[in-house]
Amino acid sequence: MKVLTFGTAVIGLAAVLVQAAAQAQSTPIGNDATTARGRYLVQIGGCNDCHTPGYGMANGQVPESQWLVGDSVGWQGPWGTTYATNLRRWMGQRTEAQWIAYARTMKPRPPMPWFNVRVMSDEDLAAIYRFTTSLGPAGAEAPAYVPPGKEAKGPVIRFPG
Ligand code: HEC
Repeated sequence: MKVLTFGTAVIGLAAVLVQAAAQAQSTPIGNDATTARGRYLVQIGGCNDCHTPGYGMANGQVPESQWLVGDSVGWQGPWGTTYATNLRRWMGQRTEAQWIAYARTMKPRPPMPWFNVRVMSDEDLAAIYRFTTSLGPAGAEAPAYVPPGKEAKGPVIRFPG
């Protein structure tokens, strides 16, 4: 009976070691718990819905390497035409502290849901920053904002008003 218990413990320990080795191999740099939480928040917070091209149309099946690079589809309404910012570059140009301070007061134009970002905790904002910057800068800058009454190039989604 003792031998069996010892044997089971050895098998259990071996399984833990194998699992740890597999994790160590497949874990990319920066993939700590905070970064993983940032990935989760970006997903459930809807950031990809606008900041990742084609995300909704692909049922969310866009490779992570293409996430948050901004979009050239314009959002047009009484505010003019806005384009979802390339967050990979935007975040990369700021420190984590700068982003958290900015998020507390930011008020970009519609349809950016800044009011949702503002109520996030410092920890959650930091996690989003860590995840986004862990992806590295990629993609071109989104087209510049076009004021009301000025013609926007490319496709637009029109809001009434
Ligand atoms: C419904 C579409 C939409 C969603 C969802 C969305 N964004 Fe945006 N976001 C935009 C647009 C459009 C802009 C550009 C606004 C402008 O030009 O004033 C923008 C701009 C930004 C900016 C730049 C702010 C600035 O002042 O320049 C940041 C940072 C940002 N978004 C972060 C996020 C994060 C983080 C999430 C997820 C929690 C998110 N966005 C979700 C559409 C969206």
